[in-house]
Amino acid sequence: MNAKQLAAEAAVTLIEDGMKVGLGTGSTAYFAIQKIGRRVKEEGLRVTCIATSVQSEELAKSLNIPMAGFEELSVLDITIDGADEADHQLQLIKGGGGALLREKIIAYMTTHYVIIADDSKYVETLG
Ligand code: A5P
Repeated sequence: MNAKQLAAEAAVTLIEDGMKVGLGTGSTAYFAIQKIGRRVKEEGLRVTCIATSVQSEELAKSLNIPMAGFEELSVLDITIDGADEADHQLQLIKGGGGALLREKIIAYMTTHYVIIADDSKYVETLG
């Protein structure tokens, strides 16, 4: 298992039954969505999710993860998403995957915003 997958799956352990969950976009979030799908199938985890992109929404639906629309949810318990760059103060650049609008709306809605990143994302100076 690579570092992206390890980070993603560790973050998914934070999801508790009944939570409303934001799903991020990108190759790291992919592993988180896959893991959520396995928890739904194998543990009967009950979640309601909303995604930062059509791609993540379609992936989640293909895994039978219950999804909601923006008109149905106003607050999320947790969102798990990737980042393009992170510095040592844990400041981030996001948006490189093109999920610009939806990821900002979801970041605003969420109570806990968990960023999953492997060591390739660390930079001395952002940008
Ligand atoms: C989406 O717009 C971005 O913020 C992604 O979260 C970011 O690009 C991370 O993608 P990877 O996990 O594929 O690096």
